[in-house]
Amino acid sequence: MSTERVRIALQKTGRLAEDSLGLLKNCGLHIDRSRDQLFCRIKELPIDLLLIRDDDIPGFICNGICDLGIVGENVFAEAKASGDREFAATVLERLGFSLCRLALAVPENGNINTVSDLANATIATSYPNLLRDFLKAQNIEAKTLVMTGSVEVAPRLKIADAICDIVASGATLAANNLRELAVVLRSEALLIRPAQQFSGEKEEIVRRLLSRMRGALMAEDSKYIMLNAPRSAVNEITRLLPGCDSPTIMDLNKEDMVAIHAVCKEAVFWETMEKLQSAGASAILVMPIEKMTA
Ligand code: PRP
Ligand code: ZN
Repeated sequence: MSTERVRIALQKTGRLAEDSLGLLKNCGLHIDRSRDQLFCRIKELPIDLLLIRDDDIPGFICNGICDLGIVGENVFAEAKASGDREFAATVLERLGFSLCRLALAVPENGNINTVSDLANATIATSYPNLLRDFLKAQNIEAKTLVMTGSVEVAPRLKIADAICDIVASGATLAANNLRELAVVLRSEALLIRPAQQFSGEKEEIVRRLLSRMRGALMAEDSKYIMLNAPRSAVNEITRLLPGCDSPTIMDLNKEDMVAIHAVCKEAVFWETMEKLQSAGASAILVMPIEKMTA
């Protein structure tokens, strides 16, 4: 009977929140939470969730309040770049979702056209440390205006010449007549942990959860594909199947025809389907995979 519980810090609301909870659900953890609930006890594994602001997650890992956290690389890298000597969190796994980038952007019709035009400009951002490191690497001196939100309105208010902010779809930039100038950091969701060792019991819970996460993420990207093909086309078709090395080939009750079944560890696009058809494949079925192990 285990007594220790692993506490995971998650974003309470926002882009990352939904994806993070979705991943935990796919790991078989059932989360029933009301909107304003901050703490959530999981029944299936000795795990508790703490729902907080994403900016607070790295700190909660460093000071040992939580054992694991799911956080955007943008937030993690900014906290790390703060140069805080107490910073003692490390990346346990890159999760591959919630993709975005920290980018410099300027007004559409302004006179800043390249990164070097930013010399002596004022740049509004919620990421002063990453911006400082970027400018230093580019040898540019600029002023920074730190804002915790609504950074995109700063140029319109004439309080900044440029912004350094998160871009995902690009809709916010477009709505504010801003143009992307350069990417400062590409970001995805990260599973983070303290640098310090866990007790044996906690380590085992973390290992189990990580293995489920890997399986869930793999299953999400993977498809099970079944098709029929002339035996002569097997090599060509195998080559076309995305992210699959050894398909199962079975005889059909029809001369010179086989059935090919395979797990594709990448998305199967319409384009791939069309190429498979051209190579002689027929009756192609692509199915989602619910669970899998490595
Ligand atoms: C970011 C950023 C923009 C928006 C960009 O905020 O500050 O407002 O997302 O996304 P888009 O390119 O798809 O329009 P976020 O939602 O991460 O909230 P936060 O800054 O308050 O954490
Ligand atoms: Zn935030």
